[in-house]
Amino acid sequence: MCGIVAYVGRKIAQPLLIEGLKRLEYRGYDSAGIAVIDQSGDLFIRRAVGRISVLESVLQQDKVQCQASIGMGHTRWATHGTVTELNAHPHTDDSGHIALVHNGIIENYAALKKFLTEKGHTFRSQTDTEVLAMLIGDVYNDIKARNHLAAGTSLLQKAVQAALHEVEGTYGIAVICKDEPDTLIVARKGSPLIIGVGQDEYIVASDASAIVGHTAQVIYLNDNEMAVLRPDSFRTTTIDDVDVHPVVTQLENKLEEYELGDYPHYMLKEIFEQPHAIENCTRGRLELRENRVVLGGLANFTKELLHARRIILTGQGTAWHAGLVGDYLLEDLAKIVTEATYASEFRYRNPLVEDNTVVIAISQSGETADTLAAMREAKEKGALSLGIVNAVGSTIAREVDGGVYLHAGPEIGVASTKAFTCQCVVLTMLALYLGRRRFMSPQIHQELIDGLASIPELMNRVLQQSDLVRQITEEYCERENWLFLGRGYQYPVALEGALKLKEISYIHAEGMPAAEMKHGPIALISDGMPVVFLATRGYQYDKVISNIEEVRARGGKIIAVATEGDENIKRYSQHVIYVPDIHESLQPLLTVVPLQLIAYHAALHRGCNVDKPRNLAKSVTVE
Ligand code: M6R
Repeated sequence: MCGIVAYVGRKIAQPLLIEGLKRLEYRGYDSAGIAVIDQSGDLFIRRAVGRISVLESVLQQDKVQCQASIGMGHTRWATHGTVTELNAHPHTDDSGHIALVHNGIIENYAALKKFLTEKGHTFRSQTDTEVLAMLIGDVYNDIKARNHLAAGTSLLQKAVQAALHEVEGTYGIAVICKDEPDTLIVARKGSPLIIGVGQDEYIVASDASAIVGHTAQVIYLNDNEMAVLRPDSFRTTTIDDVDVHPVVTQLENKLEEYELGDYPHYMLKEIFEQPHAIENCTRGRLELRENRVVLGGLANFTKELLHARRIILTGQGTAWHAGLVGDYLLEDLAKIVTEATYASEFRYRNPLVEDNTVVIAISQSGETADTLAAMREAKEKGALSLGIVNAVGSTIAREVDGGVYLHAGPEIGVASTKAFTCQCVVLTMLALYLGRRRFMSPQIHQELIDGLASIPELMNRVLQQSDLVRQITEEYCERENWLFLGRGYQYPVALEGALKLKEISYIHAEGMPAAEMKHGPIALISDGMPVVFLATRGYQYDKVISNIEEVRARGGKIIAVATEGDENIKRYSQHVIYVPDIHESLQPLLTVVPLQLIAYHAALHRGCNVDKPRNLAKSVTVE
């Protein structure tokens, strides 16, 4: 949610910033801007509504590229203020000396704005960010007027520190000032910032995608920390100016993993990457010969997990759907009381966290504000906190007591696909790990880990049907209402199928338990309405067939996802997409794939931007 990139070093900043913004564009894409300090010592700022390509065209009109070697850029997902050039970042104070980019929300911006307006400052935008820029400028001028700084101290640093003490809310910020043209200041509270450490240069960004092409050495800034960066020096401190020893770590992912390669869209690439992502996710964790699951990140918590009174799986969106799959898995296979709950609801309902509660935060980005807040709440109430996270070094990953990384590789498409299947894989491994230590027989355990190991190959078979899925989808994708129905393990898959379709093709879709339909939503079914049934082999198969009949009787068109070899299903459905036969608990890993493809092909056919759907951003870092 908003992407920040900033640079200080010896290279020309502008192309670097633009390249970084392109990589971060999936975090927000309604407007963008850059600020650099040019040769004459002035702030050079350009902003534009729309994508980074629009900003690039604006910059091309300047004919001569600015040679500055310090600057910052921002790609916006609007919170305060509409999408206009005036509201786009960077923002400046009213003296025009200080420029700022910001990700997060300044919650007390209205009070600060009133205070600053009464002091005579004039605002141009409707944003909370401009208030912070103005506040920093105001403090800066105050300190300067009092002229009481020790020699060698950065006035800008002092002003940023003082201003941040007045601020309530969340921020990841980068600040430059024309009076200190070699100094870049960055700070964070609640919004991610990573500092890439190069040779006489630093590149700071909201996530690793903008850094990885320049250096693999990074420092993850913690909440309430800041850094003063110059080409030849850097210092990390708390906002209270206490020195912090910086821990430099190595980035895991390579630049190629962020590239589109031969695919037209990241979403398609990531759908097709799933077999490989699952191989990476299970590597070293499934020991087939020993009939064992190894989860290193949980080894120290096995006892707590085995004796957990309750496991709470929490997340948002797709991650919550994976949590719901986990709920079925952990109760069914490990016989542990489990609850999947929206992080945003858990956080604010004053939840009861009994002794021996384990909370597992599920998140691709590891930065989702709601999930982070829920995890912190649970931890504060005494729960053991664990994470199932994709982004290495992300805030959730660093704050939980333990956990399991997905190792799915970067997910760039806003619609989450490979993260979902890998989250389900990790939850399956967890259920097996605990189940085997509780009541599960070695035979069932062996059958299930063998099944899990075969998923990549089986999934490739499902992927080969992409063209069939496209043909079916194109027949119905002008319809504005779809239903997705499933029972048991397939209920979360139905929710996921509906979410995918909604978010990238703007078709209204609902997912629900197939049985729930007749308690109200059946009224929606009209002649020709597409209804996707998850109708795989399993103990509720006959009941699903009855639900299909109910829809057919009202004119709905049935698209069934069924088990290979099931000829019977053809009698009830207009279309059948087959998936290989596998144990019921593993079926979501296969049945979700055709639903991802339905969403992809529908969006494409309707001319939607598959990777950057309207109003959305990849990582939701505000509550
Ligand atoms: O990064 P996270 O997994 O925490 O993100 C959670 C949701 O915002 C995310 O899954 C969202 O629902 C996706 N856009 C769905 O495709």
